[in-house]
Amino acid sequence: PTPENWAAVDRYLADTLVGHDAALDAALASQQAAHLAPIEVAPVAGKLLHLLVRISRARRVLEIGTLAGYSAIWMARALPDGGSVVSIEAEPRNAALARSNAAAAGVADRVEILVGRGADVLPSLDGREPFDLVFIDADKESNTIYLDWAARLGRPGAVVVVDNVGRSGRVVDDTTDDPQVQGVRAGLAMLGDDPRFDATAIQTVGVKGWDGLAIAVLV
Ligand code: DHB
Ligand code: MG
Repeated sequence: PTPENWAAVDRYLADTLVGHDAALDAALASQQAAHLAPIEVAPVAGKLLHLLVRISRARRVLEIGTLAGYSAIWMARALPDGGSVVSIEAEPRNAALARSNAAAAGVADRVEILVGRGADVLPSLDGREPFDLVFIDADKESNTIYLDWAARLGRPGAVVVVDNVGRSGRVVDDTTDDPQVQGVRAGLAMLGDDPRFDATAIQTVGVKGWDGLAIAVLV
């Protein structure tokens, strides 16, 4: 097995099960044109988020880390009427791009993008209706902060998903000084130890290389 095989199988799975969509393709094209890093979730993972929203019958979704809105559009399209995605993005230009991409995808009415760093914006969501699903995909250094807010802002039974928990295997290096890997490890330790979560994680390979997704439910 090689990274080429993983990517070929991932493309086959996406072609077979996910298909192509003009608005999502346009969102990715806009991301590339704006010279943003190609770090959006893979198509199969976007579809997984979409299905998790449907399976959990989520109406209120919180995303931390919008980028150009690719995953937000996937999740917004899974919502019932009246549902919403609140997505937090630190970079104002990304947020503007994501708003425009959500509008082009026909989901502007159900995607709200809040500009600022997660740690600054999340407290402002206290007192809103609790969230049913939280997707954490921002700066990895802050994963424990984001998990703490997910536990506070999510209802009991809410689904919490954390992207990038494998990091090409670097996650097992407990001596690393890479703050992103340290953040991922701290987040996983919290998911394992903090009684507010019941969690697991799976490794993933595909067009985004070797990584992983953690999935938890709020107790
Ligand atoms: C990076 C961030 C991501 O969310 C991702 O999915 C892949 C890479 C990064 O910052 O390198
Ligand atoms: Mg990610």
